[in-house]
Amino acid sequence: MKNKFYITTPIYYVNAEPHIGHTYTTVAADVLARYHRLLGEDVFFATGTDEHGAKIEQKAATAGKDPQEFTNQVSAKFQMAWDEFDISHNRFIRTTEPDHIKAVQNALQYMYDKGDIYKDKYEGLYCTGCEQFKNEKDLVNGKCPDHQTVPEKMSEETYMFRMSKYADKLFSLIKSDKLKIRPLARKNEILSFYHDGLKDVSFSRRNVKWGIPLPWDKSHTAYVWSDAFLNYLTILSWTGRGPKLNSKAKEFWPADVQLMSKDILRVHATIWPAMLLSLGLPTPKSIFVHGFFLIDGAKMSKSLGNVISPDDLLGRYGVDGARYLLMSATTFGHDGDIGFAAFDEKFNADLANGLGNLVARVVAMTLKLIKSGGELKKKESFLNWKKIINEYQENMAAIALDAALKTLTNAARATDKYITDTTPFKIIGKDNDKAGEILYQCLENIRLITLLIWPFMPGTAEKIWQNLGQQPATVLSQKLTKNIINKHINISGDLIKPKPPFPRLSNI
Ligand code: MSP
Repeated sequence: MKNKFYITTPIYYVNAEPHIGHTYTTVAADVLARYHRLLGEDVFFATGTDEHGAKIEQKAATAGKDPQEFTNQVSAKFQMAWDEFDISHNRFIRTTEPDHIKAVQNALQYMYDKGDIYKDKYEGLYCTGCEQFKNEKDLVNGKCPDHQTVPEKMSEETYMFRMSKYADKLFSLIKSDKLKIRPLARKNEILSFYHDGLKDVSFSRRNVKWGIPLPWDKSHTAYVWSDAFLNYLTILSWTGRGPKLNSKAKEFWPADVQLMSKDILRVHATIWPAMLLSLGLPTPKSIFVHGFFLIDGAKMSKSLGNVISPDDLLGRYGVDGARYLLMSATTFGHDGDIGFAAFDEKFNADLANGLGNLVARVVAMTLKLIKSGGELKKKESFLNWKKIINEYQENMAAIALDAALKTLTNAARATDKYITDTTPFKIIGKDNDKAGEILYQCLENIRLITLLIWPFMPGTAEKIWQNLGQQPATVLSQKLTKNIINKHINISGDLIKPKPPFPRLSNI
C-alpha cells in the first residue's frame, strides 16, 4: 500500500487580500506536497479560507457589504492567487460551506454532551486582530505586539471549553514528540508555556453574529478558532461525529505536517490538540513553524500595512522565479528580512545566470556537437549524485527547504564551472568524443537537478525536460526512487534550444 501524506496550511482570514506571508506558507506546503508525490506517496494537501468572526464581520461592515458577499470576493482572490502560483492543493475549503458548518455544530455538540463545554461568564482582554484573548504578559506596553492595538476589555456570558482537563496529556504528547513541534526552540517555548498550566478557554460569543450558531443555544456563535481548526478534518469530509471517521478522514488523519508561522503556534499546540482529545481523535503527527518575513525588522501584515503583494512578485519574477525566491529567501524556520533588492540579485545570480543560462548553454553546445557529426558519450557524472540526493532528501525530511534548494544551486554552479574548466565549446568538431563525454555529464546533471527542483519550480522543470526532448509525464512517472541515478538521460526526442526561462533583470 502507498504511504499516505497529509499536509495542511492555516486557513487564511479573508479580512484582506493574500500577501506574500500567506504565499510563503502555501508555496512551502506545495513544495512538500509535490516532493512527497515525487516519492510515490498518496498525498492530500489542504488549504482554504477562515471566514467567520468579529474581525471579518467588522471589515465587511466597513466595506458596506454583506459578510457573505464580502467573504465570497476575498476568498476568490485567494483561490486565484494559488492558481497563479501553481499550487497543487487537493481541496480548498471555506468555513462558510454548509457541510463544514454542520460538522462544526456536530463536533461542538459532541463536546458539550460529554461535559467538555460548559456555560460561564468570562472576562478578559480580547485582540480582534488575533481573534484571541490575551494575558497581560503577552502585551508590550499594553498593546498586542503583532497588531500594535490595545485589546478590548470584554466581559460576557460564554460557553467555555474545559481545556485544562487535557493539559497533562498534551504536555506529554508534545514532550515525547508524539506531537512533534519543530524547530526545537518552538517546542521548548510551548513546553514552558505549559508549565504555567492550561486554563479553560472561552468558546462562544454572544455579540458576534457572523459565526456558526451553537446547536444547543443559538444565541451564541462558535468561537472562530474552534470553527477554523475543524477545517483540517472537515476538508476530508468528516461529519463532526466525534471519533467516527469517514473513509477519507480515516485514510489521512492524523496530519503528517501542519505548517504555519509562529503567530498561531500556541493555539495550534493547545486548543487544537485539546479539541482532538475531547473528540476522541489522534493529534497531528507534527507541526512545523516557519519564521516571519520581516520588512525593516517589522512583521509584514495586513494590519500594519507594509505588505508586498504576490502580484508584485509574479509580475517581476514570473511564477517559478517568485516560488524560488520565496523558498530561498531566508532560513526556513527562522525570521528573515526580505526586499526587492535582495530578490533581484538572487534572481540574476541563481536563475538568469545560473540554471537558465546553464540549460541554454548545454543544449546549444549539444546541438552543435550533433551538427558536427558527434554524439553524446555515456559517462558517470563528475558530481557525487548519491551524496547530493542524500543531502537533499535529508533536508526535505527536516523541512529545511532553503538548504535543499542550495544543494541544487550548488550542483548547477559546479556544472557551470566544469564547462568553463573543460571548454567543450572549443573542442566540438575537433575532439567530439571528449566533447560528447563532457556534455553527457552536463545533461545528466541537468536531468537530476531539474527532477529534484520540480517541487519548487514545476513549470520550469517541465519546460526544460521538453527542451531535452523528454515528456514531463514520463519523467515524473519514474518517481524519486533509489535507482534514479542509474536511469540515465536518453536523448531520443529533439533537443530544442530554450528561450531564456529567466530573462536577466537589467535595471539593477
Ligand atoms: N485564520 C487563522 C488561521 C486559522 S488555521 C485553523 C489565521 N489566518 S492569517 O490569515 O492571519 O494567517 C496566518 C498565517 O499566514 C501565518 O501563520 C503564516 O502561515 C502566514 N503569514 C502571515 N504573515 C506572515 C509573514 N509576515 N511571514 C510569514 N508568514 C506569514 O491566523
